[in-house]
Amino acid sequence: MPGLNLGDEFPNAQVETTKGNFKLHDYMEDKWLVFCSHPADYTPVCTTELGALIALIPEFEKRNVKIIALSCDGVDSHHGWIKDLNAQAGCPSNELLYPIIADKDRELAVKLGMIDPLEKDAQGLPLTARAVFIVAPDKKLKLSILYPATTGRNFNEVLRVIDSLQLTLHKKVATPVNWQNGGECMVLPTVSAQEASSLFPQHRVAEVPSGKGYLRFTPQP
Ligand code: BEZ
Repeated sequence: MPGLNLGDEFPNAQVETTKGNFKLHDYMEDKWLVFCSHPADYTPVCTTELGALIALIPEFEKRNVKIIALSCDGVDSHHGWIKDLNAQAGCPSNELLYPIIADKDRELAVKLGMIDPLEKDAQGLPLTARAVFIVAPDKKLKLSILYPATTGRNFNEVLRVIDSLQLTLHKKVATPVNWQNGGECMVLPTVSAQEASSLFPQHRVAEVPSGKGYLRFTPQP
């Protein structure tokens, strides 16, 4: 089945977009990438989602992240829809702050496993689901989520995941349920008790019925 596993290299596909034609790795430069697909232009949920992304661009930029969107509509359709997106975001510009890919032949959608067989266009061709891929600067896939057409995404959750990915790339911690940047973290199970004491002097080991000392909390390093 087409699609990517975590850790796979994200394809360096040549794409046609609202900001010209380029290869995805060139677009990334040495930054992180959030790659989103949506079912179709001029549809209500997609308009709220891509409009919300406009307002969040400064948050993504702070984290060294670039955004790119994709649907199977053509560039002309995207350009017309951009006016609605900017209006939705209260943005006076005629340009969109990020590019939208026109994947009319669905080549990339199939390769990335983003096709939703339950959603079809007027010609009966399948549309893309609401995919989110987070790609690290080394071009490796770090996160993949697929939402159905009827459920809009929560881009604050995407920002939260990026904070976690960027923290855990360099520190020997993981982030627990509902973690927010600055919150308590978990010492990785692979860290010995001795190493935990030296790396995380303020950590505490929670007691559990099993008596195993694996629940180790530390302030965010
Ligand atoms: C929407 O964006 O509202 C939408 C698109 C395709 C199917 C259902 C909803």
